[in-house]
Amino acid sequence: MPQLNETDHEIFPVSAGLDSEGNITIGGCAIADLAVEFGTPLYIYDEDTIRHMCRQFSGGFKDAYERSLIEYSSKAFANPALAKIIAEEGLHMDVVTGGELIFAKAADFPAENLNFHGNNKGREELSEALDYGVGRITIDSFYEIGLLNEVAGEKGVRQKVLLRVSPSVDPHTHMLTTTGILDSKFGFSIETGAAAEAVEQAVATEHLDVVGLHFHLGSPIFELEPYSQAIDYVLNFAAQMREAHGLQLNEFNPGGGFAVGYVGKELPPPILAYAAEISEAVRSGCDRYGLDEPMLTVEPGRAIVARAGVAVYKVGGIKRIPDVRIYVSVDGGMGDNIRPALYSSVYTVRRTRDPYATPTETVTVVGKFCESGDFIAKDVDLPVLDSGDLLCTPTSGAYAVPMASNYNMTTRPAIVMVKDGEARLIRRRETYEDLLATSLV
Ligand SMILES: Cc1ncc(COP(=O)(O)O)c(C=O)c1O
Repeated sequence: MPQLNETDHEIFPVSAGLDSEGNITIGGCAIADLAVEFGTPLYIYDEDTIRHMCRQFSGGFKDAYERSLIEYSSKAFANPALAKIIAEEGLHMDVVTGGELIFAKAADFPAENLNFHGNNKGREELSEALDYGVGRITIDSFYEIGLLNEVAGEKGVRQKVLLRVSPSVDPHTHMLTTTGILDSKFGFSIETGAAAEAVEQAVATEHLDVVGLHFHLGSPIFELEPYSQAIDYVLNFAAQMREAHGLQLNEFNPGGGFAVGYVGKELPPPILAYAAEISEAVRSGCDRYGLDEPMLTVEPGRAIVARAGVAVYKVGGIKRIPDVRIYVSVDGGMGDNIRPALYSSVYTVRRTRDPYATPTETVTVVGKFCESGDFIAKDVDLPVLDSGDLLCTPTSGAYAVPMASNYNMTTRPAIVMVKDGEARLIRRRETYEDLLATSLV
């Protein structure tokens, strides 16, 4: 039986393979068959990969730091079927809007295991979160300290909160996905003194129980050192805040941002390396600054779901401009995956049938949207393609579908979950009726 090549093996789902005719399969289902049954563009999620990644994180961090827990960051892909798997695997989950909270509720996600993030949560959203009984709310602004204290007071509850601080550490990722530097809308800056003021204000409130600190540097982070640098800085700050304002650091959350491999030549450090670096930094920082070791929470989003998801497109027109470029147009694009246009993100592209036939052409795979910046992958080597061929992009499980739009009034794709040769729809394709449903004549 033919096999995926070595690098594809790292970036396709764990259950992916080739059938006897050389077609790519996922979860025992041939991509070509799924495309016929569910149409294209199609997003295929592999349940085995999601569970595998959950276990890699839980096991890896537990081995490195006993009092650790993993909180899946649902902005990477929010879906009730996924949330059920996350809960079954024993992970906690974070949400950043009332909408993401609705998805958690739809899966009956245990409220105590939810953390509500976001730099500008509204009164309604905070109220909904308290009504559901979310375990933690991570506060991001002075405005929110007052607002949440007020809403909690109205409901007669005392809410456990973390304060999001900004450690002024650059994780060397894309500027638009860097969040922990001084010039960021997120968190209270330690450098400017805002974080100290936030601690002072929050611990003095009646209805907020400050259980710890949070930061998030950005995403995806291929280096380990920014984590340990930021952890040391924040733990030093925590020790100062204990003296100044009686802050008890029972919980500590250095965020997510763990990288994944999108193309074979750029593979990230293994999860165990992140776990070792972070755990060691927490232990040694606590030792250095005389703190008790807190509960450690990390928040992977991308690293849990990216590899599980594969996008499938059908080739339409092919335009050859001699000595310039070959444009291969597919039936999706920036409407279902805006990451290449927004962040210049790179993807591997494979023809789903006979993917390792000798590549004979370098092509640019573009979408069907009315923008010149609408592309999936530039300058990829592929076998000669015909209209009607299927292309797939592995590692499409994070931040593609959740950032999808109806630009050009297109319908967003169907999503299926595969396992053991079975595929089940977890989101149906939108229809023209859906597009019209919210507009009034
Ligand atoms: C606060 C917070 N935590 C976790 C994440 C998840 O990041 P990633 O998907 O890269 O792990 C993000 C991403 O933006 C975030 O803002």
